[in-house]
Amino acid sequence: MAKSPLIVFEHVTKWYSGNVIGLNQCSATIGKGITGLLGPNGAGKSTFLKLATGQIYPNIGQVSIFGVNPFANTGIFTKVGYCPEQDAFWSWMTGKEFLVNLSLVHGFSKKEAKDEAKRVLEIVGLDDARADRRIVTYSKGMRQRVKVAQAMIGDPELLILDEPFAGADPITRAYLGKVFEKLKKKGVSILISSHVLHEVEAFASQIKLIYRGRLLAEGPVKRIRQLIYDHPHRIFIKTKSPRKLAQHLIIEPSVSSVEISNGGKNSSLWVLSKNPYEFYRTLPKILIDTGIPVEEFQSVDDNLQAVFDYLISR
Ligand SMILES: Nc1ncnc2c1ncn2[C@@H]1O[C@H](COP(=O)(O)OP(=O)(O)OP(=O)(O)O)[C@@H](O)[C@H]1O
Ligand SMILES: [Mg+2]
Repeated sequence: MAKSPLIVFEHVTKWYSGNVIGLNQCSATIGKGITGLLGPNGAGKSTFLKLATGQIYPNIGQVSIFGVNPFANTGIFTKVGYCPEQDAFWSWMTGKEFLVNLSLVHGFSKKEAKDEAKRVLEIVGLDDARADRRIVTYSKGMRQRVKVAQAMIGDPELLILDEPFAGADPITRAYLGKVFEKLKKKGVSILISSHVLHEVEAFASQIKLIYRGRLLAEGPVKRIRQLIYDHPHRIFIKTKSPRKLAQHLIIEPSVSSVEISNGGKNSSLWVLSKNPYEFYRTLPKILIDTGIPVEEFQSVDDNLQAVFDYLISR
């Protein structure tokens, strides 16, 4: 962790009306570099980012960003750029007009604002032809690019991005990923939220897993990847030769148990593996060597939700 943290949460609890918990006793430190805030729907990611940027206030606990309370020190926004989860455009404008106007709000002169809009448009890869179209005609990917571009106005040293990949096409995702890598090399820090690790693992150095308003785990990408892949997986296999396949599987070190369900036509196997990565490598080899046909194959725990359930049950 960096010596001087950028963001510090101390025992922060935030609840919404109707007793909905947004964040629950959350203590976290965000250092320099790129941090991925990862969690499923409703985990508390947006709540965390809104608290960090002072848009909402904690019911209990303290939040600081660059050493001050964001709620009372809006001056820090010269150092912080924020990309909201929801679209917040003046969408009757063109992308360029939107960015020029926001640059004016940031305090740039008319001439500087035009240059600033051009600079950020270039970074996110929106050429004139697209930047001169009205935002209302934009695809989701183009909207996400403009949202990221507006966060970069004024060249802030910290970007806080709430799911900038959400709904974007693969080309936009890959492009923005490269943009974040370049920014990282320039020394810009980024706090970025996402549902899935693979979206952020290429450029994030630290990951924080958040679930039901609690910080469940944190650490370098490698450790979190291990945690996600190593939790036990239940795998469903439908085959006409369940007993024969079970005999081959049970001797595999990656297999903890095999259960045969039903007999006859609808036979299937439930496999529990404590090392799913190894199991997925071994299974095709066994199937080819034995010639056992498989009709269906499903890993029911191969998602973040299952990982979180596993982590809170330990
Ligand atoms: N304005 C609000 N009023 C009431 N409840 C809210 C409000 N905003 C968020 N919540 C609730 O707080 C919890 C955390 O929500 P939050 O939006 O922070 O999660 P998230 O991780 O960003 O989810 P998503 O992936 O869907 O964006 C959820 O239960 C959500 O329903
Ligand atoms: Mg959210």
